[in-house]
Formats: sequence, C-alpha cells, structure tokens
Amino acid sequence: MSQSRGQWSGKLGFILAAAGSAVGLGNLWKFPYITYENNGGAFVLVYIAAIALVGLPIMMAETLIGRRTQLNAVGAFNKLGGKLWTPVGFLGVLAGFVILSYYSVVAGWTLRYIVMAISGELGNMAAVPQELDTFFGDYTANGTQQIIGLFLFMTFTTTAVIFGVKRGIERVSKILMPILLLILASLAIYATTTAGFEKAMHFLFHPDFSTLTRGAVLEAMGHAFFTLSLGMGCILTYGSYMRKTDSIPKAALQITLLDTLVAILACVVMFSIIFSNPDMQISKSAGILFTTLPTVFVKMPGGNFIMTMFYFLVAFAALTSTISLLEVISSYSIDELKWSRKRAALTVAFSVFIFGSLNALSLGANSKLSSFNLFGKETTVGMFGTMDYLASNWLLPVGGLLIALFTGWFLSVRENRIELEEGHGELPAFPVWLFLIRFVAPIAVGAIVVSVILGAEYQ
Ligand code: PFF
Repeated sequence: MSQSRGQWSGKLGFILAAAGSAVGLGNLWKFPYITYENNGGAFVLVYIAAIALVGLPIMMAETLIGRRTQLNAVGAFNKLGGKLWTPVGFLGVLAGFVILSYYSVVAGWTLRYIVMAISGELGNMAAVPQELDTFFGDYTANGTQQIIGLFLFMTFTTTAVIFGVKRGIERVSKILMPILLLILASLAIYATTTAGFEKAMHFLFHPDFSTLTRGAVLEAMGHAFFTLSLGMGCILTYGSYMRKTDSIPKAALQITLLDTLVAILACVVMFSIIFSNPDMQISKSAGILFTTLPTVFVKMPGGNFIMTMFYFLVAFAALTSTISLLEVISSYSIDELKWSRKRAALTVAFSVFIFGSLNALSLGANSKLSSFNLFGKETTVGMFGTMDYLASNWLLPVGGLLIALFTGWFLSVRENRIELEEGHGELPAFPVWLFLIRFVAPIAVGAIVVSVILGAEYQ
C-alpha cells in the first residue's frame, strides 16, 4: 500500500517538502503587508505566539493523523473517525481547490515579473513614478495575460505532481528550498547595508502594545493557519508519506521555525529597502510586492539583478506551495477514486484552471466577475476577493478547529502518544502538547470562527 502511494526518501524529504508548502506567498506577500498595516512590533510578537501555541500543535496533529493512516485527508478522517468525521477531509479538499484557484493567479504574476526584470523592462518602468502602478493595473485587468500566467504556473505545478512524491515533489523542494534560502539570506545581508535597516528593525522588534487591536490578534491567528498550510489536510497529506522511523515533533518544530524565519527575514528585507526611501508611498496589499518594491530596487546599485533574484525567490516559494495544494486533491483522487497519479493530477489541474480563470478575469477584465460579491463586504469584492475571504476566514479556521477537536478529544491520549513518540522516543513535552491541542487551540481558533460569524473582518 504505502509502496504504491509513495514515500519521502527520508526525514529531510518531508521537512523540505512541508517547509516548501508552508513558505509561500503568505510569507513574502501577505505577511509583510499585514505587518505593515498592523504597525509592526506588537503584531509580530502576537503572530509568533499564535504560531507557537496554535500552529505548532496543530501541525503535529495533522502530521500524526496522516502518518498513522497513510491516507489522504478524506480517507484518513474516514478511517479514524468514521462517517461523522469524513466531511472534515472533504472540507480540506475543497479548501485546497479554492486556494489553488486564486493563489496560482498571483503566482503567475511572478513569471511575468521575472521576464520583465531580466529584460530590464521592469527597471525602466519602475524608474518613472506612477508608470509601474499604471502597468500593474493594466496587466491585472488584461484577461489574456492573466490566463496565460495562470496556465503556465499550473503547468509547472502539475508536472511536479505527476512525477510523484519522491521524484517530483521531494526533488523540486530539495532543489528550490536551498536556493530560496540562499537568495533570501543574500538579500537580508544586503538589507543590513541599506539606510532603512535600523528603522526596519525598530519597526519590527519594538513592540508598542497600545497600537494592537483585537482585529490584529485575530488576523495574526488566522494567518498562522494560512502560512503553515494548516486546517485543510495539506500537512496531513504530506505526513502520510512520512516514514515511521522519523520524528514528528522534531520535523514539525523545524518546519515551523523555517517558515517563521522566512516571514521575518522577508519583512527585514522589504522594510529596510522601503524605509531607505523616506518619501516612499507604500501601496496596499499586492502592491508592496509588485508595485512598491521595484521602484525602490531600481534606485539601488545592481537594482536589476536584485530585482530578478527577488522575483525568482517569490516564484520558487509559490511553486512549492501550489504543488502541495494540488497534491491534497490529487492524493484524494488517487486513494479514494483509484485514479492513476497522472490522470488525477491532470484532471484536477484542468478543473482548477477553468475555475481559476474566473478569478483571473475578476481583476478588471470582466465586469460581472469583478463586481461579484458573495459576502457583501468591502474587502470581498470580485470573485478573487470572495475566494480569498472564503478560504482564510471560513474554510481554514473551521477546518483547523475541527482537526484540533478531533485529535484532542476524539482520538485517545494513548494513540496520540504512540504516534508522536514513534520515531522520536519518549516525548516529555507530550502533556504540554495535549493541553494546547485540547484547550488553547480550540479556544483560540473558536474565537476566530465566532468573530467571523459575528461579522468581524480581517483578510
Ligand atoms: N502556506 C502557503 C503560504 O504561506 O503561501 C499557502 C498554503 C499552501 C496554504 C498550502 C494552504 C496550503 F494547504
């Protein structure tokens, strides 16, 4: 069984693939933006607390469910929890589909930016204020361009998934993750030489709790899920390819640390660069990455080169994440529907591409899709905004809450302990984990769900 499903070649395979899933646009695109919006310092601390107290225990829970059952998300919940819990697995597969359908659109942008950075076009455009803004607006509103980007990115993603667990996913992660870390480390070293470095460090690491809002706390918690790929069976699926001889707690800790390190380093790099330019106007959301940064890069020595490296970094990070999203759905189709890997990956990818095109066309190309608003909120305008809101505010927190409750209260203490200690040896911190997964995580995630039901908003 496990032979035909595939398995990582060793513990590094799992760690790099899962870290590849975790490190993505969430770290490089979303985290710097929400950190800026929530005034740095105190928000960063709350985020770290959310990662440690909620994210890490749930990551261990998902991995243990996956490795114990050696099954996809749906099969795993069905096997351990029966009919009642099977919907949790389906919720995960649905979340994977929804996230992949808009995530790959943004990922597609990086390809265009890489080409433009190499040709020098991006540098020329960024040198004239406003020109890049106009370009970005026109580009995202250009349906053909958006669909081409989505198609190309889905093609790369699908190719890796077709090659399978060891020869595809693991190999890509083992090549791309070290390159990604190297590029980020060089950019971070470069950041220390910029004029804005000190200001960036102050902004990030001097907490001022008077600026912290309740919404910021919820946002930090919600983002902890997204950034660690939790709440939708992704880590569970990757955990199902893990060997019994490897340690779950150690791997989960290393993946979590790596993800947090990348998020913080990305902030150090971006804020140092941005603060180096005192009259910089920081644009919102997508803007930081695609409109603000190039205008600053271009003023630096070797700007075009740094720019090119930077967009490669973002594309690599996004690719290892889209691969993991596609794998969640493919793995379900392979195990449960008995499809071949190739058929599963191609069919799922094609459906995602068709549905994703609606998101791609909702950024200005098609007025009906651009004004579609299922939730009726200011931040959920357009198909793209609606899907992002649905996933980050509903699917992931609800999925995470159910996974925590399932592991903490439905599985027995004994079976949890056995799986966590398998390949690790005695785990003295087990009672701490049990307390976090039984009480802290459900209460914290429950608070997100309740506040979303009551109408609070965070993106
Ligand atoms: N963790 C990824 C990021 O931070 O960009 C996004 C993601 C990937 C979320 C895979 C969920 C997932 F299953």
